[in-house]
Amino acid sequence: MNPIGPIPPHGGRLVNLVVDAPRAAALRQQAPGLVAVHLGEREQCDLELLAVGGLSPLTGFMNAADYHSVCERMQLADGLPWSVPVTCTVDAATAARIQPGQPVALTDDADRLLAVLTVREKYPHEKQLECERVYRTTDAAHPGVAVTLAQGPVCLGGPLQVVMPRYDPPFAEHRLTPAQTRAAFAERGWRTVVAFQTRNPIHRAHEYITKCALEICDGLLIHPLVGQTQKGDIPPDVRMRCYQVLLAGYYSPKNTFLSVLPAAMRYAGPREAIHHALMRKNYGCTHFIVGRDHAGVGSYYGTYDAQRIFDEVDPQALGIVPLKFENSFWCRRSGAMATDKTTASTPAERVSLSGTAVRELLARGERPPVEFTRPEIADILIEALRKGA
Ligand code: ADX
Repeated sequence: MNPIGPIPPHGGRLVNLVVDAPRAAALRQQAPGLVAVHLGEREQCDLELLAVGGLSPLTGFMNAADYHSVCERMQLADGLPWSVPVTCTVDAATAARIQPGQPVALTDDADRLLAVLTVREKYPHEKQLECERVYRTTDAAHPGVAVTLAQGPVCLGGPLQVVMPRYDPPFAEHRLTPAQTRAAFAERGWRTVVAFQTRNPIHRAHEYITKCALEICDGLLIHPLVGQTQKGDIPPDVRMRCYQVLLAGYYSPKNTFLSVLPAAMRYAGPREAIHHALMRKNYGCTHFIVGRDHAGVGSYYGTYDAQRIFDEVDPQALGIVPLKFENSFWCRRSGAMATDKTTASTPAERVSLSGTAVRELLARGERPPVEFTRPEIADILIEALRKGA
């Protein structure tokens, strides 16, 4: 890997599947005569990422060889690291109407044409295998497993011609494609850029690890995930207000960049940490933050499993450097943020609150301690909860 950027996309080539206007017009004409496949929310998120190159080198939904190889070996069939299946699934009745070689119309919630998929393969969706290998559990209470179990029993593999990655996307001005973030980094002269994945408001622990990471990189990409999340997570529009207020008040604008990632959360912990890192490589980042229980949910994963999984992947082939952070907290003895690595304080000297405790405080209209959440962020969250977010 080139340590002083620009970093090559995964697999070497940044993919763009969006067709030009004449081709899009021709596909729109053809679409009413095709079998229509309505995409689920996860699949719509994946389609947008495929379209803009966020999932380079993939050029469409996975075929059976890639799907099995990813589930079993955490690699594409050609050996490139890849940790999460990217599938288009259909029910049995729809599958029966589709033969390999056939183009099908992929549509969104309002039945608008997103893309035409040329079906190369139809193959069984091995839900049990996928859940065991990717999620490390088949428990239907796991939100990522629940989505997988609700998907269709048949996968369609094949290349895509994308007419529209997404209609009327929220956060349009912050929805930069990989080509656009790469251009933005180059314009700023950043040779090393660390990406921060998040699905939460930025609390002090997040702020601390992003700033530690920025100390050793030229730039910081705050890259919140704004695609499908589980019920109970703070909605992305509320989070965006938090990010903007926090960045304006507490970060250096010349070294920080805010953009959104239109991905669906899988809550797959370790496997998803690799997936998150590979996407950020495609967006032009050289480093990626992996903290405590990254992409975890409930108690399905060990606190540092998402860090350990990087030891199983060849760093050269991965091509983006994980920056691993221990659980961070405010240490009263030091009067600073710290981790077990940097303080010998006792648990009683540390400000730590569970997510539930924070939510309860906010729901009562009370700010959590300033050592946990900046007051400006607390106020946005209190207001959002008052309005029923
Ligand atoms: S995640 O699903 O995107 O991982 P979240 O937005 O809470 O959830 O976390 C974003 C990043 O911050 C992840 O890398 C996570 O591991 C890290 N993180 C969250 N809280 C802490 C903490 N207290 N100490 C260290 N890292 C943390």
